[in-house]
Amino acid sequence: MLQSIAETILETYAPTPKYERLHAFDPPVDLSHFSSFTKGQPFDAFRQMRENAPVCWCPEPPEIGGGFWALTRHADIRSTSLAPETFSSQKGGILMTYGSSTDMRHPTLHRASLDTMINMDPPIHFELRREHLPFFTPRYIADLKTRVDAKVTSLLDAMAPMGTCDLVEHFSAELPLYTLSEILGLPESDRPKLVKWMHFLEIAGYIVAERRLGSVDPAFFGEFLAGVEDMFDYGRTMLLKRRADPQPDLLSAIANAKVDGDVLSDGYLDGSWLLIVFAGNDTTRNSISGTMKLLTEFPEQKARVQADLSLLPSMVDEAIRMVSPVMYMRRTATRDAEIGGQKIAEGEKVVMFYGAANRDPEVFADPDRFEASRANAGDHIAFGIGPHVCLGQRVANLQLEAAYRQILTRFPDMRWTGEIDIAPNNFVHAIRKIGVEFTPERG
Ligand code: HEM
Repeated sequence: MLQSIAETILETYAPTPKYERLHAFDPPVDLSHFSSFTKGQPFDAFRQMRENAPVCWCPEPPEIGGGFWALTRHADIRSTSLAPETFSSQKGGILMTYGSSTDMRHPTLHRASLDTMINMDPPIHFELRREHLPFFTPRYIADLKTRVDAKVTSLLDAMAPMGTCDLVEHFSAELPLYTLSEILGLPESDRPKLVKWMHFLEIAGYIVAERRLGSVDPAFFGEFLAGVEDMFDYGRTMLLKRRADPQPDLLSAIANAKVDGDVLSDGYLDGSWLLIVFAGNDTTRNSISGTMKLLTEFPEQKARVQADLSLLPSMVDEAIRMVSPVMYMRRTATRDAEIGGQKIAEGEKVVMFYGAANRDPEVFADPDRFEASRANAGDHIAFGIGPHVCLGQRVANLQLEAAYRQILTRFPDMRWTGEIDIAPNNFVHAIRKIGVEFTPERG
């Protein structure tokens, strides 16, 4: 039987590093705090860290305990991700913190966020990952393309008369939801519920932290608890249905996956559901919205792509490089090790900031510039690298390309109005609202 990671995870950490810090430089922002990200990612702080302390010790607030090493260099994040036997995803999970055990964490959410393949180490990890693979092959994705193109058209048809709207509500949230639901095999009528659940998940960490301070409205908290519970009930029911009656879809593959000789426990079904629903929706939604912002900020690059649509694939790589919607993944040292000359002790946390790596001037010249034809934009590591490299990267690229192929031709003057609302979240760059305006279509 597969062991529960929630029951075995390392949860206590020393507040100071065991070995001396190589660089006496303190992080200019608190990277553990949600409010540090509500105006976008702290790229300037990342630059300072990369220049002064590329492996930088970041203390965490005492109520969480411990601290972590922040990595901001492309080469260090690459080598750390490629050494899972030294830098484990399983020993402490992939989040910076899971809250302290005395916090009133949502029990199902806490357990599900750990009992899932993204927190598993090789070789057992691959047993579960393998079951997902047939739904992410180039051939499977090519089959999806026609449906994704048609969905883009129908979403744009609905937006066409508006002239101004929130792109998240009308487009960026809807397209990934549709695409993921097609892969999973979710009935059309159930899909809208997922949008609301996504909003709750995006602020779950913030709610736990605010509860600690006693500043969450009890009515809202009740709604949050009920929403999260509904999400798990729904996922478990669907997966068990597919176990009894398999269909050619990803839900059935997960429901019938055998790891270590057994089908998944209910705990791992919850975890697998949470991972796929969150990873497949939220990331692509934020990439679509973030790309609109970049195209507005760099109008000459937008004009180049409009004049030559063959630039779309490299524009998509470049947009994902600059947006880097998953801000970090964390690893835990399984033994004493070294990164960039800094000694790291067994049990210490290492947090890899992808947005920082993706603006490392050692790899990307003039890294803050959006360059639609950047020759090495595809070297970004926004999808991670190594055994856990994102399963859905082709699905994400497909959707972004399909979206902007139609947006840039059908609404050539669509632009960001300057209105934006970013959720308090230090894990994903979560754009809740982004205003756009464009010449409406009449008739
Ligand atoms: C721009 C969009 C996306 C970004 C930036 C992104 C980023 C990432 C990153 C950084 C990782 C983890 C790497 C690690 O721990 O080393 C990951 C893993 C994963 N992603 Fe994505 N992702 C995106 C879209 C998607 C989509 C559309 C899906 C599904 C349809 C998806 C499914 C997954 C899954 C299942 C994993 C876990 C893989 C494993 O543990 O083996 N992602 N993604």
